[in-house]
Amino acid sequence: TSASNGVSEPYQLVENDLALIYSDIKSELNCDLPELVELAQYYFSTHGKAFRPMIALLMAAVCGKHRGGLPQNVVQKQRKVAVIVEMIHTASLIHDDVIDEAATRRNQPSLHKVWGEKKAILTGDYILSVASRELARLRNPEVIICLSQIIEDLVKGELMQLGSKDPAATGRLATYLSKTYHKTASLMANGCKAVAILGGCTPELVERSFLFGKNLGMAFQLVDDNLDFISSAEEMGKPTSVDMELGLATAPVLFAAEKASDLDALIARRFRGPGDVLKAKQSVMEHGGVEQTKMLAASYSQEAVSQLSAFAESEEREALVKLADMVLDRTK
Ligand code: FPP
Ligand code: MG
Ligand code: MG
Repeated sequence: TSASNGVSEPYQLVENDLALIYSDIKSELNCDLPELVELAQYYFSTHGKAFRPMIALLMAAVCGKHRGGLPQNVVQKQRKVAVIVEMIHTASLIHDDVIDEAATRRNQPSLHKVWGEKKAILTGDYILSVASRELARLRNPEVIICLSQIIEDLVKGELMQLGSKDPAATGRLATYLSKTYHKTASLMANGCKAVAILGGCTPELVERSFLFGKNLGMAFQLVDDNLDFISSAEEMGKPTSVDMELGLATAPVLFAAEKASDLDALIARRFRGPGDVLKAKQSVMEHGGVEQTKMLAASYSQEAVSQLSAFAESEEREALVKLADMVLDRTK
C-alpha cells in the first residue's frame, strides 16, 4: 500500500474516481427501453481491470498538478474522457466477442451467447452512440476529433487483423505492430491526449501525453499476446490460447519464426494444418518467443516512462511510472 512502502499505488489513488466513473456510465446508459439498458449495462456489471479509465484519470491528474491545479469544471470534463474511453472500449469488446466467437468475457458468458449476435451488435452500437453524445457535450472540437480517431483506429485494427492479404515474412512484424497500435494503443494514446488538451497543456506536453499512452498501450498488448500463450482462461476471465486457433500470428510466434523458418509455412496457412497450433506453440517455447516479446514490451514501457519526466513531479506521475512496470508483470 502507499502507506507501507511510500510508493503510490495506481488503483488506490483513483479508486474513488473509478467508482464515480462506473456509476456515471451506468446512469448515462439509462434510457426508456429497459431491455437495451440491461444489455448495455451487462459488461459493466463486473468491471474488468479498469486499466483504460485508470490511465486517463491518472494522466488527467498529472496534467492538472503540472498546471498548478485546474478548475472543477475542467476536472469534470477530464473525467468524462475516462467515461467515454471505457464506453468505446466496451462497445468494441461486445463486437469483438461476436467476431471472435468468444464464449466468455469478464468472467461471465459473453453478451452474444446470452442474447444472440444481432442484439449484441446493436448493444455495441448503442453504447457507442451514448459515448458520442457525451463527447459532443464536452464542446471541444479538438477533443472530439481526437476521441473519434479511436473508433476509426479500432475498426482499422480489427480489419487489419482479419487480414485479407497476408504480408510477406519481412513485413510481418511491422504489420503486426501497426495493427497493435490501431486496435489497442490508439485508445490509450488518444485518451491521454484528450485529458492533456482539456487540461490546457502546451502542444509539447499534449504530444508527450499521447506518446505515453501509445507506448504503454503497445507494451500492454504485447504482454496480452504473451498471456494468450501462457495464462489460463480461469485467470483471464476470457478464453486463452485462441490467437492461433483464430489464425493469428502474434509477436511470440513472429519472433520464433525469425529463428525457426519452418514456422513461415504455418503462419502463411494461418495454423490450419493438422497439429499446426501445437507445433507452433512448442516452437515458440523452444525459441524464446515469449521472452523476446517481453523484452520488446519492456522497451515500450521504458519509452512511455521517459515521456513523463517533462511533467511536474506528483503522486500520480509516480503511479503512472509504477503502472508502466506493473503492465510487464501482470498475469491477467
Ligand atoms: C480485443 O482484442 C478487441 C479490440 C481491442 C478491438 C475490437 C474492435 C472492433 C470489433 C471494431 C469495432 C469497434 C467499435 C468501437 C464498436 P482481442 O480479440 O485480441 O482480445 P480479447 O482476448 O480480449 O478478445
Ligand atoms: Mg479480436
Ligand atoms: Mg477477442
